[in-house]
Amino acid sequence: MFNKRTRIKELLQVDAASQEVTVMGWIRTFRNNQFIALNDGSCNQNLQVVAALGLLNDETMKRITTGASLKVIGELVPSLGKGQKVELKATSIEILGDCDTEKYPLQLKNRPGLEYLREIAHLRFRTNTFGAVFRIRHSLAFAIHKFFNDKGFVYLHTPVITASDAEGAGEMFRVTTLPFDNPPRTEDGHINFKEDFFGKSTNLTVSGQLEGELAAMAFSDIYTFGPTFRAENSNTTRHLAEFWMIEPEMAFYDIEDNMNLAEEFIKYIIRYAMDNNREDLEFLAQRLAEEEKQLPQDKRGELGLIEKLEFVLNNAFERITYTEAIDILLNSPAYKKKKFQYEVKWGIDLQSEHERYLVEKHFRKPVIVTGYPAVIKAFYMRINEDGKTVAAMDILAPGIGEIVGGSQREERLERLIARMQEMHVPVEEMQWYLDTRRFGSVPHAGFGLGFERMVQFVTGMTNIRDVIPFARTPKNCEF
Ligand code: 4AD
Ligand code: MG
Repeated sequence: MFNKRTRIKELLQVDAASQEVTVMGWIRTFRNNQFIALNDGSCNQNLQVVAALGLLNDETMKRITTGASLKVIGELVPSLGKGQKVELKATSIEILGDCDTEKYPLQLKNRPGLEYLREIAHLRFRTNTFGAVFRIRHSLAFAIHKFFNDKGFVYLHTPVITASDAEGAGEMFRVTTLPFDNPPRTEDGHINFKEDFFGKSTNLTVSGQLEGELAAMAFSDIYTFGPTFRAENSNTTRHLAEFWMIEPEMAFYDIEDNMNLAEEFIKYIIRYAMDNNREDLEFLAQRLAEEEKQLPQDKRGELGLIEKLEFVLNNAFERITYTEAIDILLNSPAYKKKKFQYEVKWGIDLQSEHERYLVEKHFRKPVIVTGYPAVIKAFYMRINEDGKTVAAMDILAPGIGEIVGGSQREERLERLIARMQEMHVPVEEMQWYLDTRRFGSVPHAGFGLGFERMVQFVTGMTNIRDVIPFARTPKNCEF
């Protein structure tokens, strides 16, 4: 059998056992014609393979280069060198795939920066940084499923192609098979989507929430976890055109239950990474500390990555209303010194500079803001007694800004229809959604966590393009 191998992570955890083992992986470095640092992606650390002098002929020796792949059989022995407990004394080394050093872009000596690595995203998994980031991303995804599964939530697969605009924001990618050069037209000259694949105009989903609500009206508690798409032309370090979202939806929940669940959820998955990805987190903490050394003092984080995560775990999120948030901003030194670029007054949509002021300068911890003005929020949010705010909740995180958006939903049919009309949401086309309010409607709530923003928060990576394997952003769809 070819693939009878032990993962390097397992080998590094055991004490030297004088039994024969097989490992396979990619060469990170080769020193003194003798020491091969081998990595198989199972952990950050490399396994030191020792090729005794004479084991390799000159021809093979030349082919032991950074990036080449190897199958090594040998004996795991205590290591004399520092930095590792054990090493592999090779008895046989087979080259599985050569790697031309002249052409291989990942040489340790030129220490490629993150921007360059984005251009070679197909290879960047092989660096320490991206190894750590994507192992943590995996862990967080696993923790998310575990959290909801343990609570009895049903994982619901909502459609990727839809005919509705869940958020009513109109930032959608169209899905069509109509010819671009000469699409069929109606008599009044509009494109005739009746002739399109689905017989109507369709798009990639911006959110699985509406379908999630339908299922919550039967299972009580559901969650989605899938890709969502937004054609917003935002070239920032926090926006992707294709991102993953987790959307739990709970029947018999009000806004407060919703906040409690969201806070517990975020803490749970951070705790999971702290318990299961310690080595990778420590590596990234170090990386971040080095990156921050390049920044002016006031741009540096006060806490290291691990301390920041500990702090979030050990402190309750601050909870304030939108109206309180506006007051804090209006009374802030930043406002008085005209440091905000955007206007501050009741009714505005909080801009990222405002959100960051609240979490990074004022409260210095995650903040849940509730009770936003109805006019700036989606049609499905429950209108409050005051008639002008809705039971919305956004969670803002230091360094990230909005990480969660959610709300209690409008369960009262008449009011929901009124809101839809006000906001020009096509009522006729959404009878399926309104049926939930007709047939046994119940108070319910839910939220959406942006997965990449969460991964950014846990890994300390500053650019969202560095926490998704292959980023889709305006004017960029490589790989
Ligand atoms: O606030 P949003 O738009 O909320 C919804 O989509 C609701 N349907 C959620 C719900 O109540 N079920 O998006 C939710 C989260 C944001 O807080 C943010 O973390 C993330 O999704 N997000 C993005 N992440 C990366 N790139 C983008 N372009 C994002 N847009 C939103
Ligand atoms: Mg939002």
